[in-house]
Amino acid sequence: MDQKKEIIRLEDIKRDYIVGEETVHALRGVSFTIYQGEFVTIMGTSGSGKSTLLNVLGCLDTPTAGEYYLDGVSVKKMGKNDRATLRNRKIGFIFQSYNLLPKTTAVENVELPLMYNPAISSKERYERATKALKDVGLGDRLSHKSNQMSGGQQQRVAIARALVNEPVIILADEATGNLDTRTSFEILTLMQKMHQDERRTIIFVTHNPELAHFCSRNIVIQDGRIKSDTYNKEIRSAREVLESLPKEEE
Ligand SMILES: Nc1ncnc2c1ncn2[C@@H]1O[C@H](COP(=O)(O)OP(=O)(O)OP(=O)(O)O)[C@@H](O)[C@H]1O
Ligand SMILES: [Mg+2]
Repeated sequence: MDQKKEIIRLEDIKRDYIVGEETVHALRGVSFTIYQGEFVTIMGTSGSGKSTLLNVLGCLDTPTAGEYYLDGVSVKKMGKNDRATLRNRKIGFIFQSYNLLPKTTAVENVELPLMYNPAISSKERYERATKALKDVGLGDRLSHKSNQMSGGQQQRVAIARALVNEPVIILADEATGNLDTRTSFEILTLMQKMHQDERRTIIFVTHNPELAHFCSRNIVIQDGRIKSDTYNKEIRSAREVLESLPKEEE
């Protein structure tokens, strides 16, 4: 990468949860910097602090201590409303359970993040949502409702929704956790395309160690601390794996 733009900087982030008499140290001092165009996996055993970290990164939770700069802005100094605006403008979320509105069409689901921006007309909203759905291969499912689509299709809608605002960062928590092998690699192919063609910055929490081979960087968390942080020189192609899978799994 010729010019490195800093997207995320964490400085000694701590998150304690007080439960009754006990304090759980979910994050015990996490520091790292993520630059534009990185595709990062975050791994670690259950309870190691991955979701807590993702919630901090997504401005859904406030750390007990430490500094978080998102796209150069100190999140700590912001009020609740500013933080919500920042979240809506700069972050796209993809969840394991898709989190789409039921009985609502694909286009309406994808239009949702644009509703909070009064500068965008309803016509532009529709056009951007339609384009985002076409980009994830759902141009022929625009009016399908969430319950009329497969799991993989619903996750594509969720990806289109995460992208429609052109966020600086995409956060995914076990985005392929509920999908079969073939569909997982379809979603992974899509994310690699976002990463390689559009230089999107993606942070992907997963339990599946195999996925690290498809990303550019792997951060492992253990007991609320970074255990390792390594760069992957030979990124495997999800598309190649997809093409090598037996067809009958479809
Ligand atoms: N709201 C909460 N209140 C109290 N303790 C919590 C809360 N959320 C998480 N914890 C604790 O913080 C620690 C880290 O939890 P976290 O959900 O971040 O783990 P995780 O790595 O995402 O695990 P998993 O792989 O099972 O999703 C755990 O010990 C958990 O019990
Ligand atoms: Mg979790």
